[in-house]
Amino acid sequence: MARILGICGSPRREGNTAFALQYALDAVKGTHETRFLSVADHAVMPCTACGACAKTGVCPQKDDMITFYDALRWCDALVIASPVFMGMVSSQLKAVMDRCVLLRPDYEKPYELAGKVGAGIACGWFRNGGQEGTLQNIHTFLLQMHMQVLNDGAPYCHSGAAIVANAREDSLGLETVGATMRNLDRVLKGMNR
Ligand SMILES: Cc1cc2nc3c(=O)[nH]c(=O)nc-3n(C[C@H](O)[C@H](O)[C@H](O)COP(=O)(O)O)c2cc1C
Repeated sequence: MARILGICGSPRREGNTAFALQYALDAVKGTHETRFLSVADHAVMPCTACGACAKTGVCPQKDDMITFYDALRWCDALVIASPVFMGMVSSQLKAVMDRCVLLRPDYEKPYELAGKVGAGIACGWFRNGGQEGTLQNIHTFLLQMHMQVLNDGAPYCHSGAAIVANAREDSLGLETVGATMRNLDRVLKGMNR
């Protein structure tokens, strides 16, 4: 049984992104341990580029980012879900991503998330509204954390999980979410997790 962390990047607690991410975690319930964390419940300030974390391994900003650090260290796999904001991830999620610079190497430690697997979910209102770009944002982040990136796998093997408009009514979008989680489950089992 692997530990799967879902990070919801929407400032709306019960919006489409939260629904799609919970749908993803429910798909592996019983098979894996899951945890849901939302930026809506945690205040995370942007990185100030002070450089302290590279020297001390600690961020001097005292906010809720500590919850994300703990959860990211805990998990074997990470699913990041974001609403599409101007064709990109939300600024709330980007703040969390930037603060993860602390989990990259400094002089004394390696990439802390190296070898973990990750996948993305993008929720936009329009078709071609920027879901693929948002997924690229998420995938780039995962790669920069030295993680392995997964998409929705065979038979689709497109850009990952993408929702258009109301997530609860987007059956094809939810199928891409389900397919992404099946792919994640397949890889985790291959890793004996
Ligand atoms: C600031 C802002 C920018 C947005 N930009 C886009 C966009 O570029 N493309 C799109 O399809 N939808 C865009 N939307 C709509 C949201 O992505 C969409 O409503 C999404 O389902 C919201 O997720 P939520 O319910 O989890 O908040 C935008 C919404 C906001 C508030």
